[in-house]
Amino acid sequence: MIETERLCLRRFTLEDLEDFYEYAKDPLVGPPAGWKPHESKEESLEILKSFVSSEDIFAMTLKSSGKVIGSLGCHEDRKREYKGGVMIGYVLSSPYWGKGLMSEAVEGLLDYIFLTLGMDLVSAYYYPFNEKSGKVLKKAGLVYEGIIRKCSVLPTGEVVDDVCYSMTREEFFRKRNWL
Ligand SMILES: CC(C)(COP(=O)(O)OP(=O)(O)OC[C@H]1O[C@@H](n2cnc3c(N)ncnc32)[C@H](O)[C@@H]1OP(=O)(O)O)[C@@H](O)C(=O)NCCC(=O)NCCS
Repeated sequence: MIETERLCLRRFTLEDLEDFYEYAKDPLVGPPAGWKPHESKEESLEILKSFVSSEDIFAMTLKSSGKVIGSLGCHEDRKREYKGGVMIGYVLSSPYWGKGLMSEAVEGLLDYIFLTLGMDLVSAYYYPFNEKSGKVLKKAGLVYEGIIRKCSVLPTGEVVDDVCYSMTREEFFRKRNWL
């Protein structure tokens, strides 16, 4: 479990289905992250089952209400051969955007990745039309690497670029003023 000022990041359980479906069906949430909005609660349940058995995906819950308002996780970065790093990804329920919540969650996740998991690198990618996600990464101190052109294929079939960001272990400690 990861705790920040307003959030608790914890493992998903099957009881999270209602909250998960609420944002997974929202057309504003999935598409900028590369997935189609869920069309039924059954579809969400299947995905939720895979989240429940994963140690790398966190439910983002509000401490004040216990509600699940998003998810974030760290995964193998298939773009890199080096296995000393992880790639992060995140989505947040749209009524909660613009309150600094994902920035807060990503800070907590970076602590977990570098301090608890002891990883060497964190990477993240977003599509050029999703500047909001870029802001989260910049704010967290990740460094712009460049763009892989014509990299991802969206569920619509559209081919898009990936904007690449990363943070090394050294940059993490320097940002925390520990180096
Ligand atoms: C991207 C996303 C996670 C941002 O979450 P968030 O909690 O709103 O982000 P924050 O409030 O921490 O804001 C981070 C920065 O983005 C800016 N921002 C937030 N909402 C914004 C909006 N609607 N329009 C423009 N800028 C916005 C904030 O101002 C902040 O920058 P600042 O501190 O310099 O002002 C959220 O919009 C989301 O889930 N989008 C859909 C899924 C997605 O895109 N996932 C990422 C895939 S790569």
